[in-house]
Amino acid sequence: MNNGRVNVLLASLCILLIACVAFSGTAASGDYLIGLGSHDITGPAADVNLMGYANPSQNAAGIHFRLRARTFIIASPDDSNLRFAFVNLDACMASDIVTQKVVESLKERYGELYSERNVAISGIHTHSGPGGYLQYVLYIVTSLGFVKESFKPLVDGIVLSIIEAHENIRPGSVYVNVGELLNANINRSPSAYLNNPQEERARYLYDTDKDMTLLKFVDDEWGAYGAFSWYATHGTSMSRTNRLISGDNKGAAARLMEDLFNVDYRLQGNESLQDAIKSDSRNLMQTTKHFAQYLDDANISSFMPRMRATLSDSIRRPFVAAFCQSNVGDTSPNVLGAFCSDTGLPCDFEHSTCNGKSQLCIGHGPAFPDEFASTKIIGQRQFEKAAALFGSATKKLAGKIDYRHTYVDFSKVTVNLSSTSSEGRKGNIFKTCPAAVGFSFAAGTTDGPGAFNFVQGDDEGNPFWKFVGSLLKPPSQEQIECQQPKPILIDTGDIKTPYHWAPDILPLQILQLGNFIVLCVPSEFTTMAGRRLRESVKATLIAKNADQFNEDTAIVIAGLTNSYSQYVATYEEYQVQRYEGASTLYGPHTLSAYIQEFTKLAIALAEGTVVDPGPSPPDLLDKQIELLPGVVLDAIPPGSHFGNVIDDVPAEGTFNKGDIITARFQSACPRNDLFTERTYTLVEKLTADQKWIPAYDDDDLSLRFLWSRPSTFSPFSVATVRWEIPDSAVPGTYRLRHFGAAKTNPFSNKLQYFTGTSGTFLVS
Ligand SMILES: *[C@@H]1O[C@H](CO)[C@@H](O)[C@H](O)[C@H]1NC(C)=O
Ligand SMILES: *[C@@H]1O[C@H](CO)[C@@H](O)[C@H](O)[C@H]1NC(C)=O
Ligand SMILES: *[C@@H]1O[C@H](CO)[C@@H](O)[C@H](O)[C@H]1NC(C)=O
Repeated sequence: MNNGRVNVLLASLCILLIACVAFSGTAASGDYLIGLGSHDITGPAADVNLMGYANPSQNAAGIHFRLRARTFIIASPDDSNLRFAFVNLDACMASDIVTQKVVESLKERYGELYSERNVAISGIHTHSGPGGYLQYVLYIVTSLGFVKESFKPLVDGIVLSIIEAHENIRPGSVYVNVGELLNANINRSPSAYLNNPQEERARYLYDTDKDMTLLKFVDDEWGAYGAFSWYATHGTSMSRTNRLISGDNKGAAARLMEDLFNVDYRLQGNESLQDAIKSDSRNLMQTTKHFAQYLDDANISSFMPRMRATLSDSIRRPFVAAFCQSNVGDTSPNVLGAFCSDTGLPCDFEHSTCNGKSQLCIGHGPAFPDEFASTKIIGQRQFEKAAALFGSATKKLAGKIDYRHTYVDFSKVTVNLSSTSSEGRKGNIFKTCPAAVGFSFAAGTTDGPGAFNFVQGDDEGNPFWKFVGSLLKPPSQEQIECQQPKPILIDTGDIKTPYHWAPDILPLQILQLGNFIVLCVPSEFTTMAGRRLRESVKATLIAKNADQFNEDTAIVIAGLTNSYSQYVATYEEYQVQRYEGASTLYGPHTLSAYIQEFTKLAIALAEGTVVDPGPSPPDLLDKQIELLPGVVLDAIPPGSHFGNVIDDVPAEGTFNKGDIITARFQSACPRNDLFTERTYTLVEKLTADQKWIPAYDDDDLSLRFLWSRPSTFSPFSVATVRWEIPDSAVPGTYRLRHFGAAKTNPFSNKLQYFTGTSGTFLVS
């Protein structure tokens, strides 16, 4: 970040270290070794419950756009063993069992180079990805238990994205930039926020964090080729009734940014345009428009958004853009606010209810009620901010790569308050409690009212809940007192049958890249909780090592990382017991416990000492119960065939940008083959020499794959391919296609692959 400062630091170190000459030569140039990678993790696009809203009827039924795991690895040029990997996951959250299996797989391949200490896996918090990949009971109720079909592609995709990043490691530089993005989040629990001390609130202009912090990766040879940014806003632009797999607003932001950059090297004929994009992206939006001039018929193959097959032969790797989650707890992307669906009036301020009912109070995104448009708009706002920060990033990072990691049993942390506040006096001793969720947990939030209603017996038909619900037991008196004032709904920490209901052992991790720090938390910190943690860690780092850290040190919280344990509200917010307080598992002193334990990590990082690794989290994989039935059979009506067009595109007419074209095909369950890094849907364009070439696929925001069967156990199914002609579409002749794999024999796993093709239509 500041070469002068680093040089001073190195100079002072040189007095102590003899072998320092070569050291300062490379490190002072600010160079690192950087690797970027990305892999499809979409998973099963049918039947599996989507993770986040805990709505038992929200099962996957197609794809809005595909999910990816995006990785950056950063290593020291002096000692390439000194490295860490950060993975941004288009999933609701990380899962400790996923993290364990990823690390096991990396160890088989790379020995001790990667471990849980230097690998961070962070969820973006989309509520539209397949669930069932967490190992604790409470998080897999609505998915009918564990779902191996979700778990495996997730673990495999993360490993493959890390391998890709690993194989691509090359010399380069990293820049950091921070800026405000005002209109992509609001606070959804302002009444809880207002319970924080007035003097503390007065220090901030807003009741959510508005900063986006971006890392820009620049390859010494290729130029800029990646960006990871952190910004706090919930992945709830898509609603609790959406059934298409989607990366929600952060996935959309990533898609938009990658598409923009990945176009540039397909225009290899124009060096000046390429250079313009590489060297300065301040005018990105304008640049996009310039592409139009290249989009004549013969050259459309140089403009095929997201057709990865064409990218693999290229001279350099595609751009990787990741939009990471932060202290997301009390934020919402539904920035118009929450309104009663019956009266249209704002909901009750204290309780977010309408006539006492939480189900009627709904957060409105910017394009409400069009959730697809809201997702794109909130994605676009993050993308545009990131592009601007990318273009204007001038602070080059330099200095140490380091990390610290520990596991802490949060069911019994002894907390010694480090300062006096409404929580208690400095030196007061408190304890955290075994995990428990409060009553407001079942009420959900304005982003997903009535979530977790299964708890209240609304979900009589759920066999997994029938089985485990009977194992619930009332909390002990000690637990009731420890969790005060939380009224306990489920005493998750004290029930261990058939296996743990909630985690006890949580991973805490700090990553250092020069003067940039990532705090990896396995939870959703509220705005103020996040501010307190960042502030406290920063003060500790500066106090313990003023040579390396200063007021300029950029600190981000990476939320939902490495494991998942719901929310962390401040002590004062906890007293209000809205959803976030009710979901703060380990009692009123949870945040103070985090700050205390992170302080230990920060001291160790600043002083170069080791930390106690702590107890290991369990591996409950063998104990998992799976009740989701497999695919038995796919069939077709007599006289039909798989891929048969049931309803074709309009036979006549010319269509314009914004028009919607659909075709319906005889289909089969997409669970038979996940088509990882491939596509179920395709828009093809006819070239001047009468060849059909791909133009849009599963990954495009304009193209949707909707899949359905007439009833739960029917072997028949239909795929609808829906294309909303985007502004980027080039005039010409098009057609829609569908690809699938059918299980035609219930006693064999052999699949019949098929394709269906619509009639043609004209776009003007
Ligand atoms: C297509 O683009 C390439 C550069 O990518 C250019 O050399 C070629 O002339 C273009 N073809 C046409 C027909 O415009
Ligand atoms: C390359 O792109 C730039 C910027 O859009 C444009 O001004 C220039 O005419 C292009 N050059 C060629 C050879 O097409
Ligand atoms: C609590 O921390 C203070 C330092 O802030 C220390 O003096 C005191 O001994 C600690 N109390 C206990 C019981 O460990």
